[in-house]
Amino acid sequence: MATKDKAKAETDGKATGGDTLSITDNRTGESYEIEINDGTIRTMDLRQIKVAEHDFGMMGYDPAFLNTASCRSAITYIDGEAGILQHRGIPIEQLCEHSTYLEVAYLLVFDELPTQAQLDRWTYDVIHHTFVHEDIKKMNEGYRHDAHPMGMLLASVGALSTFYPTAKDTEDHEERYMAAIRLIAKVPTLAAFAYRHSMGYPYVYPDNELSYSENFLSMLFKMENTYEPDPRLAKALDVLFILHADHEQNCSTNAVRAVGSSDVDPYSAVAAGVAALYGPLHGGANEAVLRMLRQIESVENIPDFLEGVKNREQKLMGFGHRVYKNYDPRARIIKKHVDEVLEVTGENPLLEIATELEKRALDDDFFTSRKLYPNVDFYSGLIYEALRIPTNMFTVIFAIPRTSGWVAQWLELKDDPEQKIARPRQIYTGKRDQDYVPIAERDGPEKITGPPARRPKLLRRGA
Ligand code: ACO
Repeated sequence: MATKDKAKAETDGKATGGDTLSITDNRTGESYEIEINDGTIRTMDLRQIKVAEHDFGMMGYDPAFLNTASCRSAITYIDGEAGILQHRGIPIEQLCEHSTYLEVAYLLVFDELPTQAQLDRWTYDVIHHTFVHEDIKKMNEGYRHDAHPMGMLLASVGALSTFYPTAKDTEDHEERYMAAIRLIAKVPTLAAFAYRHSMGYPYVYPDNELSYSENFLSMLFKMENTYEPDPRLAKALDVLFILHADHEQNCSTNAVRAVGSSDVDPYSAVAAGVAALYGPLHGGANEAVLRMLRQIESVENIPDFLEGVKNREQKLMGFGHRVYKNYDPRARIIKKHVDEVLEVTGENPLLEIATELEKRALDDDFFTSRKLYPNVDFYSGLIYEALRIPTNMFTVIFAIPRTSGWVAQWLELKDDPEQKIARPRQIYTGKRDQDYVPIAERDGPEKITGPPARRPKLLRRGA
């Protein structure tokens, strides 16, 4: 709550309770006191700041949400300056050491570690929903052989909403639970099907005898009946799944929440998350890291490459983070596992380039002064590659564990009485009150040459 009244503030000499922020509008001389809670003011409290009665009121302008909290959340805690990541209060390091991905998924969704009985039930429920409708296979057959598997995953997660139409009843807690289970269970199957399609291989059905990560490896790589997942590789993949499970209000989670706020079904909301994750600045970064390491080719080329980064010819992919201004704690854990995985699978020459690249960047003022450190994606691609997972599947693999985070965040959104449909404001910068001009009277080129749909500039006036 905020108080506008200048006279009242002067006579009371204090705020209505707790900490406050005093604002003086120099346009009017009016003073306002805005309540501070959790180090935050409510931007709606700024709306009372007006120059005239009919004025809309002041807004906050924050493109890309650099300094705007969009929700209250109790799922994931990050201290970006200190490099701390905790899920439901438990440090990521402990979860990676002692837990499994499915247990972490439970923790994210239910806010506490499960008892053995709860974990058994949860695991049973997930494992017994890993199969997808046969029509999904037919959908996949419609794609070109070289379709990006992330595009396929995006479409098939969205399509799940058509197979489970009752999920539209988002107030029904049983429907919510079933959607949570189905999403966590089926996304690996959809991901593996997308991969098998791109390889032209027959699909491998889920195997309920295997663990979550073993089953995924089996669906990817089984040929005839010969595939036995190496437990060390399955463990490394499980750790990667834990590391990627949730990361508070990142781009894709924000997409899930924004789309979910329209009260659409959870499958459609999660499909929005998959779409956001597809982008190279978010989930696509580890794919870009491997492309970058291959392009660098050898350790000798690193200085030239870094010069190019400093000249802004390219980015150092896998470095930098909106929140971490320190070493990403997930990158530290992954780095430890790279060596273990390579012991099983054999050396990868790209590791030498990555290690040297990191060392030099961390010695360079350009990166340290901007607090650019390796993020989760700098080393994860090397593990995926060692697991023989093709580059275009990296983002898909990211989407598998992030599904539990998206689900947990969606559930939290649904239970948050303060949330409404997400609808930001804008500062309008365009023209106003223009008259419609008949087409014959408009300025512009008389003839447009060149191939259609290739030169959009020509369509602009005066071009
Ligand atoms: N390489 C070179 N310079 C960089 C990099 C980079 N990877 N990242 C940031 N910078 C520079 C920017 O050019 C900017 O410099 P300036 O102040 O001189 O203009 C400064 O560092 C601050 O960067 P911003 O772009 O403002 O940082 P922002 O928080 O908007 O971006 C992002 C974060 C998108 C992750 C960025 O660091 C980036 O593009 N990194 C490479 C892509 C990547 O690895 N993404 C994965 C993120 S982790 C994840 O999504 C799972």
